[in-house]
Amino acid sequence: MRHSSIFIYSDRIINNINIIKSKIYPHQQILAIVKANGYGTDAKSVVKVLVEKGIKFFGVASIYEALSIRETFKEVDIIVLSPFLPEEVDLYLTSNIITTITDIDRAVLINRIAYSKGKVVRAHVKVDTGMGRLGVVYDDAEELIKKVKELKNINLEGVFTHFPSADIKDDFTLEQISLFKRLIDKLKEHNILFKYLHSANSGGIVFYNDTFFNLVRPGLLMYGAYPSEAVEKAINVNNSIKWFSNILEIKKIKKGSSVSYGRTFKTDKDMKIGVVGVGYADGFLSLNSNNGFFYINGRRANIIGRVCMDYTIVDISGIEAKIGDEVIICDSIDGIRINDISKRTGLIPYEVLTGIGPGVRRFLK
Ligand SMILES: Cc1ncc(COP(=O)(O)O)c(C=O)c1O
Repeated sequence: MRHSSIFIYSDRIINNINIIKSKIYPHQQILAIVKANGYGTDAKSVVKVLVEKGIKFFGVASIYEALSIRETFKEVDIIVLSPFLPEEVDLYLTSNIITTITDIDRAVLINRIAYSKGKVVRAHVKVDTGMGRLGVVYDDAEELIKKVKELKNINLEGVFTHFPSADIKDDFTLEQISLFKRLIDKLKEHNILFKYLHSANSGGIVFYNDTFFNLVRPGLLMYGAYPSEAVEKAINVNNSIKWFSNILEIKKIKKGSSVSYGRTFKTDKDMKIGVVGVGYADGFLSLNSNNGFFYINGRRANIIGRVCMDYTIVDISGIEAKIGDEVIICDSIDGIRINDISKRTGLIPYEVLTGIGPGVRRFLK
């Protein structure tokens, strides 16, 4: 385990959920996205908070993430948003995890195995209306869905699509929505109906939520960050985590000294510096070198020199500080929110969060 830790604040996540709820229609449920260990926080902690808040549907990217949540949460619905690999079929059948279908061959395969084991697998079809990533291509979607509907050991509960640019206002997303509606309406004419229809990620919830759908899939917003500046202007959520460490060493260095690898920072006066227990092995990347600040005892302490594997050095001249004092790396404070770190480093906010290293201790508060 590393020096730095995060607190995951349940009250902030609940507040963010309430804000998301204020943007959706009463008939819409939340399918909370907790892939990548809950966007780098701690998936099980986040699911616990959300289950207590009445959310029952969760989305992940792999069957292994799904199984890890299933270990603790037996009753919730969990969908893997990626299609399955043939060797994963049994894992779906034995754990009541919902799979994603994007082609007929794999649908036939999972149907056959399910039949041979006396099981019915739950599934959603993912349709590519313009994301250009996973999903059956739009022109083939109607035929695929009709065929899957015929397969008796697949319970096709839903159809969904994904938006590549819903975090800005553009016509592209509107066109995706109208394509999707056209498809579902055509299927309706053949009496093919679905329990769930969904499309909106965080940006979609803010800018393109449509009453046609009955599930929304928030990720980043729930964790208190924004996918774009446009979304940031449109909604106000709260940084769900506090990431912090301690001062490991304090010392005075003379004018003309250099700090850390590569000697990229040179002092132009006598300085007091602090060595903080966080580095790129914690996910605090070298893009923060000579860039940004931490909070120590309520004061901003500038990062100086290169970020190291385990340490980051700060200028604490004029700051009252002692060894062991708390250093706040990221929190709901001006200048060190997830999106602030994202802006100053050029990383996307998703990377700032999911990059928090596995050795960083995580506590649910
Ligand atoms: C299919 C799907 N839905 C929803 C989300 C959540 O997106 P966001 O974090 O932008 O809300 C993701 C995240 O990448 C996704 O892949």
